[in-house]
Amino acid sequence: MAGARGNWNSSFGFVMAAVGSAVGLGNLVRFPKELANNGGAAFLFVYLILLVLVGLPAILGEMSLGKITQMSPVNAFRKLAEGGGKSWGYVGVAGMIAATLVMFYYAVMTGWTLNFFVGTFYDGWYDDPTGFHGKIAHGPWAILFLAIVMTVTLYVVSRGVSGGIEKVTSIIMPALFGIVFLMVIYALFQPGMGAGYARIFKPDFGALTPQNISAATGQVFFSMSLGQGAMLTYASYMEKKQSVAINGTTIALADTGVALLAAMMIFPTLAFTGLLTQYGDAGTFGMAFEAMPTAFVSMGPVAGRLLGGIFFLGLFFAAFSSAISLLEVPVSVVVDNLGVVRQKAALIVGGIVYIFAVVSAVNEYWFELFDLIAVNVFIVVGVAVTTVFAGWFAKGIAKELDSGLKSRIGIYLVWMMRTITPVLILVTFLFGGLWGTGIDGGYEFFSSGDAEHNGEAGFHQLYRIFMEAIGQWDHA
Ligand code: TRP
Repeated sequence: MAGARGNWNSSFGFVMAAVGSAVGLGNLVRFPKELANNGGAAFLFVYLILLVLVGLPAILGEMSLGKITQMSPVNAFRKLAEGGGKSWGYVGVAGMIAATLVMFYYAVMTGWTLNFFVGTFYDGWYDDPTGFHGKIAHGPWAILFLAIVMTVTLYVVSRGVSGGIEKVTSIIMPALFGIVFLMVIYALFQPGMGAGYARIFKPDFGALTPQNISAATGQVFFSMSLGQGAMLTYASYMEKKQSVAINGTTIALADTGVALLAAMMIFPTLAFTGLLTQYGDAGTFGMAFEAMPTAFVSMGPVAGRLLGGIFFLGLFFAAFSSAISLLEVPVSVVVDNLGVVRQKAALIVGGIVYIFAVVSAVNEYWFELFDLIAVNVFIVVGVAVTTVFAGWFAKGIAKELDSGLKSRIGIYLVWMMRTITPVLILVTFLFGGLWGTGIDGGYEFFSSGDAEHNGEAGFHQLYRIFMEAIGQWDHA
């Protein structure tokens, strides 16, 4: 039966697909920015602790649910709930909604990265990076590139697990690693790059505020694609003999590794081009689409275009492989629960996502609102409930985590899922809700970052953006 839903061809293919899901704009742009602005090595220290105590148990629990049941999110929760607790299926539904909400704006950003890459060949950003970003971010250009991205993504997803997703990610992920590595090495040999390293690694323990701790938790969740059924779905296509513990840990390490390399790519580059003072505090979008292209322009036409071209190609690969995974979650549910064939499901879901994504491509408040609701509400609750479910209610998690290993670690991991992981999620969530995280606020991710709202509490921010989106906020 397992074969009917599809399987990964190889462990390598599975890991590339899952790392493709995890590694995205969250790693390449947001993590470096967070690291630089929230205390450097001090932030990294907190991030790593949360990775081990929260991210790792959460990803292993979520993957186990998929691997054991070989089912998409809704059915997986139903099946593993002892005593027929059918309502657990709603956790899967919520995860699917979360992935779909993220897709509503992530697909638009993926379009931007493609537009910047294409812009390398026709002087798009070369003449005026900031102006170019302003021109393509919202409006006709955004809608056009969104359409291209959605078409390619739904085509890949419609080709299936090994024939589509695995084939594509097995090529573009190694290419992405090569690109990031090359740019890290290039920057390393330029005079003046040292200030960039200082900016990201110099520890400032005074920056360890509740806000920054909540920012780190949110970053762990978003970066590892947790709480949205994505890792569950990908793990449901694993072969029985593959180990969740080994593969899950590999995915977590690769995700953090690429994020760190991205920081060592961006900040040293800004430093050696002399732009660190001007752009060091830029928001996520400013960093990727204004500061970096400005740095490339300063390198002159040959090196600038070459490095700029591969940088934006890398951003596109990272975003595209995440978009594939985001679309796969609702598609897998539609296939398994509504009995629709994959090609048709991809077309229907892709079409619906396109319509809502056009709203974010036109209106930045809706863009932000989708982000806020997904990240502040669905993802946090999704990770917490999934982890509690895996720890307390699902059978066979410890055994699954032990399989293929010599030592028994399963019971310790399940113990973490039961206690420390959900407690830390709750505490850090309240930190963010009550104190916010400064420029990007709460658990929010891809806001354009306006200083006016620095230090706004997360719950208040959610309210404000909602009122802005429905046109009820008094800007005076
Ligand atoms: N992890 C991706 C990044 O860092 C984005 C993402 C968030 C995602 N949630 C997801 C990708 C769910 C796939 C599925 O940019």
